[in-house]
Amino acid sequence: MTNEVPISYSRSFQTHLILPPDTNHHNSIFGGKVLAYIDEIAAITSMKHAKSEVVTASFDSVDFISPAYVGNILELEAMVTSTGRSSMEVYVRVMARNLKTGELRLTTESFVTMVAVDESGRPVQVPKVYPETERERQLFETGSTRRELRQAKRLNTKERRRLLENLE
Ligand SMILES: CC(C)(COP(=O)(O)OP(=O)(O)OC[C@H]1O[C@@H](n2cnc3c(N)ncnc32)[C@H](O)[C@@H]1OP(=O)(O)O)[C@@H](O)C(=O)NCCC(=O)NCCS
Repeated sequence: MTNEVPISYSRSFQTHLILPPDTNHHNSIFGGKVLAYIDEIAAITSMKHAKSEVVTASFDSVDFISPAYVGNILELEAMVTSTGRSSMEVYVRVMARNLKTGELRLTTESFVTMVAVDESGRPVQVPKVYPETERERQLFETGSTRRELRQAKRLNTKERRRLLENLE
């Protein structure tokens, strides 16, 4: 597969009303709930791009920047910002909207690696992406640095796993 697809093709949006069962005793949303939303939109976005099934390979980074409260609307945006052979880096931005004041705040940012797989769970090739806007270009052009860091972390993790394998 050699075709290239614009980032905008698979860009996805989701909104959720934050309800009391989603929140802790500070009335702010549980981090785990936000992670589940991020995982879901990253999967949708990468499936749109790859036109195949995907699995989550890693949450490369998650930054909880400010809390989002019960009654706020969570607005998620996700896009595939760079690709390898079968892996896709997905950037997810989560904003919290206060419906009464109209204030919109950045609450969480994350980079997730999703891998396209076939029916047997084997990695399959995905099309490349290309940026069209300045924001997309910024995310796209910094993707190779994040990929290098990811690969270094993966090697390091493999080595740690190997060392711990025989220890109680
Ligand atoms: C992700 C998975 C398919 C990778 O399989 P694998 O046999 O390690 O395959 P490879 O080593 O060929 O890696 C395939 C791609 O995934 C990337 N990858 C694998 N593990 C990764 C990790 N932990 N972080 C980031 N990227 C990773 C590789 O860099 C490679 O990318 P590329 O094709 O763009 O170069 C496999 O580990 C898996 O199925 N994991 C479980 C997924 C899962 O259950 N997720 C949660 C529920 S969906």
